[in-house]
Amino acid sequence: VTPYELIKRKRDGLTLDPADIARFIQGFTDGSIPEYQMAAMCMAIFFRSLNPTELAAWTEAMLRSGEVLDLSETPGIKVDKHSTGGVGDKISLCLAPMVAACGVPVPMISGRGLGHTGGTLDKLESIPGFKVNLSVADYRKLVREVGACLIGQTATLAPADKKLYALRDVTATVDCIPLIASSIMSKKMAEGIDALVLDVKVGSGAFMKTVENARTLARTMIEIGAKMGKKVTALITDMDQPLGKSVGNALEVEEAVAVLRGTAAADVTELNYALGVEMLLLGGRAVDASDARKQLEGVVRSGAALKKLQEIVQRQHGDPEAVVDLRKLPRASQTTQVLAEQDGYVSAIATESVGLAGVALGAGRERVDSLIDPSVGFTLELKVGDAVKKGQPLVTVHHNGGPRVDDVCARLKAAYSVSAAKPKLSQLILERVE
Ligand code: URA
Repeated sequence: VTPYELIKRKRDGLTLDPADIARFIQGFTDGSIPEYQMAAMCMAIFFRSLNPTELAAWTEAMLRSGEVLDLSETPGIKVDKHSTGGVGDKISLCLAPMVAACGVPVPMISGRGLGHTGGTLDKLESIPGFKVNLSVADYRKLVREVGACLIGQTATLAPADKKLYALRDVTATVDCIPLIASSIMSKKMAEGIDALVLDVKVGSGAFMKTVENARTLARTMIEIGAKMGKKVTALITDMDQPLGKSVGNALEVEEAVAVLRGTAAADVTELNYALGVEMLLLGGRAVDASDARKQLEGVVRSGAALKKLQEIVQRQHGDPEAVVDLRKLPRASQTTQVLAEQDGYVSAIATESVGLAGVALGAGRERVDSLIDPSVGFTLELKVGDAVKKGQPLVTVHHNGGPRVDDVCARLKAAYSVSAAKPKLSQLILERVE
């Protein structure tokens, strides 16, 4: 069967054979199947989906595109967390060191910004010197010696996802349950974990816009994990507004540090603890949720979690001082404020628009080869439910000048809705799925 015939079969709603799927992914990974054919296939899958057998074959082929690590030389249950993508979601940067400081090893293979969402790797790279492309040997060593290591896919670890992720990012094929589930689970299963906590985002800034779809995505990934013998727990969490107060790479590193200092906004702090509790439970380090929470609060209070972040930064060739002396992080040269035009309450924030405004400013990529500006982004001065007066700043835009700043400010103004009545606040953690 030729690639053309396979694409046509999927386009017409027919079923693909697992062996053909394996060949197609292999061909894409080694370059014998061109990106335009994979892009067409992803669009066909977007409209026609994959049945469970096809999805298992697709995920398995992505996983087998590289090596599958065995980290059994590191004692303990190794647990990772992965988010399905949001705006202002800097949790991995604070969660990994916090959980590692409690003694649970955290091997973490992360992604770059995708569509309107930010990526952990881009955020980490805003720390001067930080390297995300370590060798597998170094990754193993750091998981064993430091207790956490955060890297990107390599030529040997889930290379199919690395290539496909970048292609989906620019072909409007990200928000598709089977493609997200196989992308996340293939790289997570390759990294050598025993268990996984998923943060499945739902809302205007997530790829899943309804709780039903988020639940389906969570269950799909839990089933893939179960088939591969891994314990997976998922939290479905709110992404109807950006998480925390900052959006943009260096700004988000700064906010993650604030979480580890115990001085960050309530939402980002609470989500960090909630996911940490799940990780400690899966890692067999806590007898129950309240014991887990106490341990996590303990390592924040004692400073051990921030020290662990410094150790990770140092061992990954970054400047460990940059996460305590935040002036060492890249800073934009200018700020411009977006002001409210009426009195009332912030009733909604169109979160995908905020993410896309960030991409337009240079915090994310518009093309596969776009360069990111780590210093730019937004400080959200007001969030949903906050009272606002006409003329009060809604957002501070951190930028370096250029022709797009006015457009970005206009987008942000349009993203904020202000109403006379105080809105009902949505819950941050909506559901737990096991
Ligand atoms: N995160 C991933 O790793 N992959 C996706 O497809 C979406 C979010």
